[in-house]
Amino acid sequence: MTEFMGKSLENPLIASSCIATETAENVLKLAENGVQGAILKSCADYTREAFTGKREFAREQETGFLYASSPFQMEIFTLQECLSLMTELRPETEILLIPSFTATDLNPESWLPACQTLAEAGADGIQLDFFYMGNLIGQEGFIPCMTELLRCLEKEVSVPIMPKLNVNLPKDFIMPILKNAGIQYVSLLDSVRSPYVCRNADGIFQLDSRLDPLTTSCFGAWQFPLTMSYAYTAVQNGLSICAGGGITSAEDVQKLLALGVSTVQSATFLTKYPRKARMLLSG
Ligand SMILES: Cc1cc2nc3c(=O)[nH]c(=O)nc-3n(C[C@H](O)[C@H](O)[C@H](O)COP(=O)(O)O)c2cc1C
Repeated sequence: MTEFMGKSLENPLIASSCIATETAENVLKLAENGVQGAILKSCADYTREAFTGKREFAREQETGFLYASSPFQMEIFTLQECLSLMTELRPETEILLIPSFTATDLNPESWLPACQTLAEAGADGIQLDFFYMGNLIGQEGFIPCMTELLRCLEKEVSVPIMPKLNVNLPKDFIMPILKNAGIQYVSLLDSVRSPYVCRNADGIFQLDSRLDPLTTSCFGAWQFPLTMSYAYTAVQNGLSICAGGGITSAEDVQKLLALGVSTVQSATFLTKYPRKARMLLSG
């Protein structure tokens, strides 16, 4: 039994915010196959306009793919879309439902109303997604602004909030800030862009032949060691961690659990093999 966000879980496996958690059908399929929680596809409080472009993957053989590119408006749900997903899912499942919210600045007013609305819709916790905010730590006053945002959300939102870390938030710099702001839960590690994916002469994304698609996540074999090092630092700072990024096997999961993380999360594996989720638990 694992304790996370107020629930006792039969196992530590949680689905990351990604394709696997962007429809109710996908989430319920994961729940049927033993997954104990779903971090829903990220949303923002915005109005979607017409967009050009599509989700592109670099494909290699039948089962291998790397995530290559996608327009923001395709990738990020509107708040209303996320609320509809919550409304559909909440009566259907007891697993942890963790919507993910993102905004364009660190002003608490840009986050609080949406996070409160998501909590009222039955969320067990809320992930804060900073991925699309670029080089946040280069902004003037980053530490006080981030601290004020996190303290405000911790105080005013009725369910736990869980910042998601990415490589633009260096681990030794960000963990003490989270701790000092009173954060308990942390989600890591967001996608690390692959230097081994590039467009060929025909404009098609291609995967470098040095990668083995069977043993790599969407983001390549270098993602998992980074996840391990972020998880280690988060454990040292006493945070409760939902760790993933690069998990491709039960062995990877065991390595993270041995470090002291509370739960593990997977995007690539659970998107590719939703019915084989238990393989991440028992090999
Ligand atoms: C197609 C796709 C969409 C994603 N969308 C989101 C998202 O909306 N919010 C988020 O926090 N992470 C998103 N991610 C990142 C994943 O949650 C995860 O951090 C990343 O894929 C690394 O885990 P993995 O190696 O198991 O794939 C997405 C990943 C993929 C491949």
